[in-house]
Amino acid sequence: MKCTSHPFNTLENYKYADVITFYNGQWLLSKHKERTSWETQGGHIEQGETPFEAAKRELYEESGAIEFDIEPLCDYSLVGMFNWKDVSGNSQVYIATVYSLDAIPQQSEIEKICLFDTLPEDLTYPEVTSEIMPLVLEWLVKNTEDEMPKYIVREITPADYPKLDDFLCHAIFIPEGGEHPAYDVIFQSEIYVYVKDFGGKNDCGVVAEIKSQLVGAAWARIIPAYGNIDDKTPKLAISTLPEYRGKGIGTDLMSSLFVLLKERGYVRTSLSVQQDNPAVRFYKRLGYVVTDEKKDHAGHDDFIMVKNLQSE
Ligand SMILES: CC(C)(COP(=O)(O)OP(=O)(O)OC[C@H]1O[C@@H](n2cnc3c(N)ncnc32)[C@H](O)[C@@H]1OP(=O)(O)O)[C@@H](O)C(=O)NCCC(=O)NCCS
Repeated sequence: MKCTSHPFNTLENYKYADVITFYNGQWLLSKHKERTSWETQGGHIEQGETPFEAAKRELYEESGAIEFDIEPLCDYSLVGMFNWKDVSGNSQVYIATVYSLDAIPQQSEIEKICLFDTLPEDLTYPEVTSEIMPLVLEWLVKNTEDEMPKYIVREITPADYPKLDDFLCHAIFIPEGGEHPAYDVIFQSEIYVYVKDFGGKNDCGVVAEIKSQLVGAAWARIIPAYGNIDDKTPKLAISTLPEYRGKGIGTDLMSSLFVLLKERGYVRTSLSVQQDNPAVRFYKRLGYVVTDEKKDHAGHDDFIMVKNLQSE
């Protein structure tokens, strides 16, 4: 298969529309029900449709994206075969920043989506991706703010609760070079217990926000989950979006959550963390001590850590 990129809207007779998609600063890729590889969203332009309309339709059908910004990137022409079919034709490529996702439509050919910090090796159309990659990187450089924008940390509100699913997903530790689990891993009962029906009287949390976008969350609740030390000690979970890590937001979130927990009369707070997660050092710096070592439901070696809030 041979792919050649061209400036946007300089070809004719477009057959396909493609979308390169980012969500929370990560690549959002889809997995077709009949393939094992990962792909960007896109497909045939239907009769009567413009390439732009097709791009938006395909983005929704293949990822469930409902709120997004989308803009032109380039054209490409393709010559060659895929799965013994001639796929030659011209495409318009768009780039999208997604803000909110719904379930993938039932009739979709897509089985699941996954978020990636870097592109995986098993791509469905590597020839296309490598041809347009320099343009994507150029776009990323232009669209990534160099300076750390100002953030605020505030108490969580009911409007934020649905976003906890995303932060729960980001809280899953992925060792260096490890593969991202699919998004729906969070719905396993041992994991989802951290956010399910959040908002009860024993639940409290804080979020970090930049220009109305949540970039981090730390929350605690008394749950009969693995590693729970007793029914008076809230168990904590935290994550910040990958592109905002290492900038002090996590430390600010934790400090604010400790104040909130103390105000509510809690004496200590606990957490469980994989022993090889660099966050162990972060927690120790914030006053947590290791009180136990356990294996979690997936067989990982964990530390149970506890922080005494009275010493603040
Ligand atoms: C752990 C985490 C919440 C810290 O938030 P943060 O905004 O990066 O925190 P800060 O900038 O205030 O401090 C950075 C600390 O986090 C640690 N850290 C963990 N993962 C990190 C990452 N991917 N990038 C940068 N720092 C990371 C650093 O070691 C650093 O600790 P140190 O200052 O003692 O060396 C955040 O990095 C994260 O979401 N990590 C992935 C999810 C996770 O592991 N959650 C905890 C599950 S128990």
